[in-house]
Amino acid sequence: MGTKFNEIVEITKEFTQDLKTSSLSDEIDSLNLKYLGRQGKVNSLFKSLPIKSDPKIGQQINHLKKFIQTKLSEKLEAALSVAGHQVIDVTVPGIPILKGSLHPLTQTIEEIESIFKGLGFVRRRYPEVETDWYYAEGLNIPKDHPARDDQETFYVGENVVLTAHTSNGQLREMEYKKNPPIKMINIGKTYRRQFDASHTPMFHQFEGLVIDKNINITHLLGVTDYFVKQYFGPDRRTRLRPHHFQFTEPSFEIDISCGLCQGTGLIGKTSCKICKSGWLELGGAGMVHPLVLRNGGFNPDECSGFAFGWGVERVLMMKSGLPDLRLIFSDDIRFLNQF
Ligand code: DAH
Repeated sequence: MGTKFNEIVEITKEFTQDLKTSSLSDEIDSLNLKYLGRQGKVNSLFKSLPIKSDPKIGQQINHLKKFIQTKLSEKLEAALSVAGHQVIDVTVPGIPILKGSLHPLTQTIEEIESIFKGLGFVRRRYPEVETDWYYAEGLNIPKDHPARDDQETFYVGENVVLTAHTSNGQLREMEYKKNPPIKMINIGKTYRRQFDASHTPMFHQFEGLVIDKNINITHLLGVTDYFVKQYFGPDRRTRLRPHHFQFTEPSFEIDISCGLCQGTGLIGKTSCKICKSGWLELGGAGMVHPLVLRNGGFNPDECSGFAFGWGVERVLMMKSGLPDLRLIFSDDIRFLNQF
């Protein structure tokens, strides 16, 4: 018992000394071999025990083995991190790679664009800082019309505005194409002096314009219905409601059937919370006024056309049930992650 015990003490001393003088990882590896290897000191000690030896000696040797293991792995870890290596624990869960995505508005604009492209429309972008002619005068909007009021409109110079609608694109497109046919969708930014749950000073509109021989209201209805069914779903219906705009005659507001009550205005026996009447307003449209055709250099006796101007944020809100438009322009990742 005594000699084996002495051997344990000797090995412990030697190991402690060895450990002090080795710092590189391969030095530590060779200590591992020297003490814990198959031919190593600890194993030899085990092997040298007589068959009927005191179990306490076995325990002591096991202690020594554990002690050496712990010290060596601590030292190895320190050596590796000094050498600039990270000790890799393969059991730690990985860091997820965050994937970006397009902003919901960009997604909506792309979807609108692709629906209209499917009907042969070309995508345009026309100026968002515009002169009075394209923005108002040429569209038959008189001087005293509220659309020109500086309470509503951002003036950036004399007779120069940040466009409050995308309808300036109508005259611009006629000037550019010079002759029918025209089939364009102008998607751009629009600006108005307003800010509440359903209005922001900057928003987006998409303006459609179709001009050709014999274009009539049924074409407007057909295109509208196609867009509504593609964007909102095949069970949605469309209706025209008489309205007034300076640059169309006749003019309409377009309504679509409510997706919640299916156009009935009722959920069970109570009135639908979303629409109350069964219908939701999409936006304005109409047959291009002959004066506007003329202002664009087209002959109203030879061609006719329809136009519409609808809000991008508005259709996104109608489709997703968003309660507050301002959320779209927030940078709240919890909101954005939903799209
Ligand atoms: N420009 C109108 C607005 O911003 C919307 C509009 C109505 C556009 C009728 C049109 C149209 O092209 O035909 O309120």
